[in-house]
Amino acid sequence: SGAGGFDLKAHIRSVPDFPKPGILFYDISTLLRNGPAWRGAMDRLAEVIRPYEPTLLAGIESRGFLMAAPLALELGLGFIMLRKPRKLPGATIGYDYDLEYGQDRIEMQADALRPGERVVLLDDLLATGGTMAAAIQLLKRAGAEVPVAATLIELRFLNGRARIDVPVETLAAYDD
Ligand code: PRP
Ligand code: MG
Repeated sequence: SGAGGFDLKAHIRSVPDFPKPGILFYDISTLLRNGPAWRGAMDRLAEVIRPYEPTLLAGIESRGFLMAAPLALELGLGFIMLRKPRKLPGATIGYDYDLEYGQDRIEMQADALRPGERVVLLDDLLATGGTMAAAIQLLKRAGAEVPVAATLIELRFLNGRARIDVPVETLAAYDD
């Protein structure tokens, strides 16, 4: 069982060969549809990030929003959306990053935060770390301090942590 007596892995389903043959997909749908388990996971994440004293949270579209929104309510904070291109109105700033094949981009509103704001970054999953690294660069470029980034799941065998230059907290790590 996990820290705090709550066994998160018991609520995460692994799905073989999704989205492609040979990939084992860790599915949080089974966690999301179980009220007490979902509450337990969010309580645990709140405990982990509270000591970093965030002033604002940020969630990465789309599954990161599922973490950032309830945690913001639980911690009494606001949160901002880091979105796929051309989704946000008004002036935006973006960060382009490389994928295994091709490129991607993440955007936020230019007026989303004040300089020096302590923004804790949330996503559901740390895999290669490309998404999280890009989000951190974007937040820092906008003037944020990022005291920690946190996810429910870490695919440790992909060593995404090596690409992240801030502390990373994860609740359930997998080695294959
Ligand atoms: C998944 C996951 C993370 C990211 C992790 O998002 O939710 O955001 O990939 O991968 P990385 O560490 O290799 O960058 P996905 O792009 O599948 O989209 P979704 O959140 O909209 O479902
Ligand atoms: Mg995602």
